[in-house]
Amino acid sequence: MDMQKLKSVIENVYSDKIPEIADICFLLNLQEKDAVDVLFEFADGVRDKYLGDEVILRGIVEFSNYCVGTCSYCGLNRFNSELKRYRLKADQIIDGAKEISRSGIKTIVLQSGQEDDLDSYWLKEIIEEIKVKYDLAVTLSIGEKSYQDYKLWREAGADRYLLKIETSDSNLYHKLHPEMSYQNRVRCLNDLSTLGYQAGSGNIIGLKGQNVENIAKDILFFKKMRLGMLSVTPFIPNMNTVLSNELPGDVMQTLKTLAVARIVTKTPHMPATTAIGSIDKKDWRLYALKCGANVIMPNFTPKNERMLYEIYPNKICFKENPTKAIDSLFQKIKNISRNINFSRGDAVYLSKQIS
Ligand code: 5AD
Repeated sequence: MDMQKLKSVIENVYSDKIPEIADICFLLNLQEKDAVDVLFEFADGVRDKYLGDEVILRGIVEFSNYCVGTCSYCGLNRFNSELKRYRLKADQIIDGAKEISRSGIKTIVLQSGQEDDLDSYWLKEIIEEIKVKYDLAVTLSIGEKSYQDYKLWREAGADRYLLKIETSDSNLYHKLHPEMSYQNRVRCLNDLSTLGYQAGSGNIIGLKGQNVENIAKDILFFKKMRLGMLSVTPFIPNMNTVLSNELPGDVMQTLKTLAVARIVTKTPHMPATTAIGSIDKKDWRLYALKCGANVIMPNFTPKNERMLYEIYPNKICFKENPTKAIDSLFQKIKNISRNINFSRGDAVYLSKQIS
């Protein structure tokens, strides 16, 4: 590998200009360990420069697994009749917020499948109660909704919203999401930004039909969106979906994407996702933290329901108790010479003008 060339390509994609697709593909295609190490180290340095050393925690409560979505990789999709569906009671969600607050975490992520008959006012009241009782930052992750709904929840105090584009290639998107609309998903992301949410998006690595150029274009899409949060996960096949026989996404490809996305987009909070921690026996989240990621999301869904939020199999959180999981995370994070941060972890663009 020509290390001079590698360094100059990394500097090119790091500069504020819109990067060349060819440069991004070059980095995503790196194979030699020495070269990949250079990429990861650079990404780690960018994370350190813009976000500092600390790992931010967000507590997630998966409050419903009902879904009208057709996402062909996801176990919650509406065609999966094997899955027992649940929706938590308001009290159970508030209990989750209490537990999160007790652990010192300052953000609750309320996630669900995309429910068509979600009562917007029910959720509004839950957001308000969480704000009054525990003053947590509230992140919603509940799919494609109307501008009016987004506005209602924003006015109730919701701070952030996660809506992954999954793939920014509209043809591939339509193949993987029959009857769903790429344009509507982009409309949602734009509405969320207009309403002042800190918006998060992301993609999946290893989707059937996806190539390196698609991933490179995802990274450019993220740069254009000026995101507060960005999540890159490997595909993990779920046996109750049409993609059950596909191979899982490649861990190295996922880490390289994370690293390049960090270098290109610089400031978003990027989770070391549960999916990368679940893909095999190794806890790859710790590697993700060393090539661009700065967030971990312990799971606070009640134990019985947690097993039913089966987007993909063998999620690490299926077995853990969140408080114990945090203790063990503390240790693991210390072992890689990083610290836990108990701040809200708002989007960097809100607090600093980045040059
Ligand atoms: N493998 C990995 N990630 C998945 N997601 C959904 N299904 C899978 C899967 N089989 C991700 C999607 C979604 C998030 C909640 O989980 O990116 O946005």
